[in-house]
Amino acid sequence: MSKHVYIKTFGCQMNERDSEIMEQLLSQAGYISVAEQQDADLVIFNTCSIRAKAEQKVFSLLGLLRKQKEKQPGLRVAVAGCVAQQEGKQIFKRMPHVDIVVGTQQIYQLPDMLLRLDRDETRREISCDLEKSFTIPPFQKLLTADKGQPPSPAAPEFRKFVTIMQGCNNFCSYCVVPATRGREISRPVTDILEEVALLVNKGVKEITLLGQNVNSYGCTNTVADQQAGFADLLQMVARVPGVERLRFTSSNPQDLSTELMQCFAELDNLCPHFHLPVQSGSNAVLKRMHRKYTRELYLEKVDALRSFCPEIAISTDMIVGFPGETDQDFEETMDLLEIVRFHGSFSFKYSDRPNTRSADFGDKVDEQVKGERLQRFQKRQDQISLERNKEFLGKTVEVMIENNKDDSIQSRTGTNHIVHFAGPNNLVPGDVAMVTITHAGKHSLNGNFIA
Ligand code: SAH
Ligand code: SF4
Ligand code: F3S
Repeated sequence: MSKHVYIKTFGCQMNERDSEIMEQLLSQAGYISVAEQQDADLVIFNTCSIRAKAEQKVFSLLGLLRKQKEKQPGLRVAVAGCVAQQEGKQIFKRMPHVDIVVGTQQIYQLPDMLLRLDRDETRREISCDLEKSFTIPPFQKLLTADKGQPPSPAAPEFRKFVTIMQGCNNFCSYCVVPATRGREISRPVTDILEEVALLVNKGVKEITLLGQNVNSYGCTNTVADQQAGFADLLQMVARVPGVERLRFTSSNPQDLSTELMQCFAELDNLCPHFHLPVQSGSNAVLKRMHRKYTRELYLEKVDALRSFCPEIAISTDMIVGFPGETDQDFEETMDLLEIVRFHGSFSFKYSDRPNTRSADFGDKVDEQVKGERLQRFQKRQDQISLERNKEFLGKTVEVMIENNKDDSIQSRTGTNHIVHFAGPNNLVPGDVAMVTITHAGKHSLNGNFIA
């Protein structure tokens, strides 16, 4: 009899992709995915540790699983992802009902770990090594896993992530990622192109190239001897027949090259959206964050991007209340917001994280001050997003359908704006349509179907 697995994913797109890989590996091992946690024989939490709150959420939900396990003694509980990597065997101490802890680079071990558990009910399994040199890159196995996947009975997904690199070498002083994901490694061009072609053949229309720091693709620890940089890779992927929309995330301002900017002018299928995390508008703060650019350089890059592609939508990530952030520093963040007028942003209160340098910095900002700054930033960002969205009023734009329920359609522009409209029910996810924008809210647009 087959076993049932339920995977809950926290955190970023890297984790979403890793969850897909785990699902594929387990399906090859005879597991069937279920939508409800209570129907599962194996529950996997793929966790995120980026801020303290994210980690707390994982532990509180894990705590609740104890009750389910009391009622259902055969239940297996696995913890994967960045909290697993960070906490390792500590997780067993804190949560004795956990059976498996599997680190970010060891997910391929999961089927073997499960087999060993089947043989010995009392066992605990842990595999958390971060591989220092990649003689056998995990990407190779990833591609094999993709090829072996049985055809899915559900409608084919129209958009997919393709990992082009893993890890991070930037060591921003506040960030756990270099510790939880290891050193930066770029995947060979040929593997990436092969995977993209495979996905397009399955009906995928939109590809998002994924890495913590895609702009430095090919610069460090490349697993194959190749000279392609990110702009070269982007051009090659854009030319794979069938790629209708191409996106990428995430980028680091310091490595944003002119060649990459030119791609926005040259490649028709490259979506005019750039997520360019700035984190702060103050040079003093940026320096302590160990971000390797200044506010001036950031603004120059934004101007240059807009000169190559005037309609490009720029979004960002912002941290408020970094240790030592003064009122004046924060005003510089607010000022940068006024200058760039981001289409949207993700903003966070600074959070102390284990094994990061800024955790030891003095001069921590008061929680209440952080809260006030975040509120002020978000309020102004919302106004700007609304003003930006209103620029679309009366314009006719091309959208890709995301879902269509009872003729009420949700779609997305190349600039990454969500558009709702009423349209024919034969439009399915991945189809494109032309829509004239009639209403602008701060988080989405509404329009009339044209064709
Ligand atoms: N690699 C991406 C970011 C990945 S983490 C980049 O460098 O752009 C996503 C976002 O979480 C970061 O951009 C940052 O804004 C936020 N973040 C990371 N560590 C944080 C911390 N300790 N406290 C608050 N926010 C944090
Ligand atoms: Fe973290 Fe900085 Fe690397 Fe982004 S670039 S993952 S913020 S260390
Ligand atoms: Fe979270 Fe790890 Fe991603 S910490 S943001 S899941 S890389």
